[in-house]
Parts: sequence; structure tokens; C-alpha cells
Amino acid sequence: MAENRDETGRLAPPRANGTAWDRTGGNAPPRHIAIIMDGNGRWAAKRGLPRTAGHKAGAETFRKIATYCKDIGVKYLTVYAFSTENWKRSETEVSAIMALLKKYLLEAVDTMERDHIRLHFFGDMTPIAPELRRLARETDEITEHLSKDDFQANVCLNYGGRDEILRAARRFAADCAEGRQKPEDLDEAVFSGYLDSAGIPDPELIIRPSGEQRLSNFLLWQSAYAEFYYTDTLWPDFDEAELDRAIAAYQSRDRRFGGVKK
Ligand code: FPP
Repeated sequence: MAENRDETGRLAPPRANGTAWDRTGGNAPPRHIAIIMDGNGRWAAKRGLPRTAGHKAGAETFRKIATYCKDIGVKYLTVYAFSTENWKRSETEVSAIMALLKKYLLEAVDTMERDHIRLHFFGDMTPIAPELRRLARETDEITEHLSKDDFQANVCLNYGGRDEILRAARRFAADCAEGRQKPEDLDEAVFSGYLDSAGIPDPELIIRPSGEQRLSNFLLWQSAYAEFYYTDTLWPDFDEAELDRAIAAYQSRDRRFGGVKK
């Protein structure tokens, strides 16, 4: 087991000097970080490359940032890989994103047990190609054998926050119709259990690179009390130092959850 853990079991940051976030004051580092991986297309256009080259670079950034999150003790990383609206893009672009996902899933099947990385999907997998769905089932099975304490990456695929809420509502209604639930017993905790994120704490920090400042149908339910961090950096250029800055910003925020400061 790695040395240098604090009382919560988190690893000390590898780069604890300079701009790195610190654990001595402010909010505890986030357990769950969610990222809208935006700016791949613009990154590619700036270099005269096809948009698909931006997604390829973006997928590598995902790998780098997931590794860093695991190393510094972030427990969950959730990324927006493909939204319910992204089907509007060209067939070439959609196929390229699906091919990248397949490549990373194939790699994950071989390495997640060794590296103790749990992988989970949020989203409606129904229209996803059978081979990708089979791979996602395979990674789910491996995840089930890994410890709940291990780092977990959640990939949002054919995901929309509204769609997730509708699917949850439908499942709850079906359970009521079959006598397994009662409408009067529905509360936030029960409803959360029907979401794709069931059992996973809400993200404390949501990051959107590329200068855009909107939620774009991402984690609508789970973001209720999240802190937001925006940066002009395009996702393929996002690095560990930028994540350090996001965490430092989060730690300095005054989180009141609707109350008043004591
Ligand atoms: C948004 O940037 C990015 C996407 C819609 C696709 C993200 C997908 C990947 C990084 C590839 C696979 C993911 C994993 C987890 C392996 P954009 O294309 O909208 O950028 P733009 O706003 O500059 O056009």
C-alpha cells in the first residue's frame, strides 16, 4: 500500500508545493469529481486536424486525469463522453467516438483488475452497438469483483440528465404498479436509488473546460449542491496542474447548502 496517507486514507498529492491544492484549510478534497470533456473539436480545428483527432487526444486526457485522480485519492471520476443529443453529429464523428470507447474498454478489460480501477456506465445503453454493450457488461462484471474502496470511473454514454430522471421515474412507477413500492414512500433517497448513479455520492465538484459555462443536461439531479469550476483550457490540453487549480478553487469555496455560516 502506498505511503503518505492522511487520516481519511487519501494519498497526499504528489505535487504538494506551489500551486497544488492543500489539505490544511478549507473544504476537504472532493471525493467525487465530474467533468464535461469539452473543447475537443476546437482543439483539433486550431491545428488544422479533423474533429476526430480532437476526440482521440481527449480520450488520452481522460486516461491521464483518471490516473491522477486515483493517485491523489479522489474516489469517483464521472465524465461526459456522449450525450443523448450527440447523435446529431456526423456519422463519421459518432463512429469515431464509439471506436475510441471500444478501444479503451478493450484495454480496461485487460487492466482494471491489475490497477484496481472500477468502471461503470451512466446512460441508456439500448441504442449502443451490441459489441460495445457486451464490453460494458464485461467491465461491469469485473467491477463487481473489485473492492468498493477502489477508485471508480463513471463514463456517461448516451446520457442525458433529463433522460436519466425519466428512466428512473418509469422504473419507480413500474415498481408501484407491481406492488413493490408505494408512491407515498418516495423521497429523495428512494428516488436516488433508481438513478444511474445509485449508491454513488453526488459530485462535490463539476469541471467544464473550454470556456463554456453551462450544464448541458449533465447530472441534473446530482449537481444540486455541486461547486462549478470553469476554465478556458480545451479538454485535450487539460492536465494535472489544471486539476490541482480546480481542487484548490473548490477547497476555498464557502459551502452552505442553503444554511447560513456559523
Ligand atoms: C465534447 O467536445 C466532446 C465529446 C462530445 C466527446 C468526448 C469523447 C471522448 C473524449 C472520447 C472517448 C471517451 C473516453 C472516456 C475514452 P466537442 O467535440 O463538443 O468540442 P467543441 O465544442 O470544441 O466542438
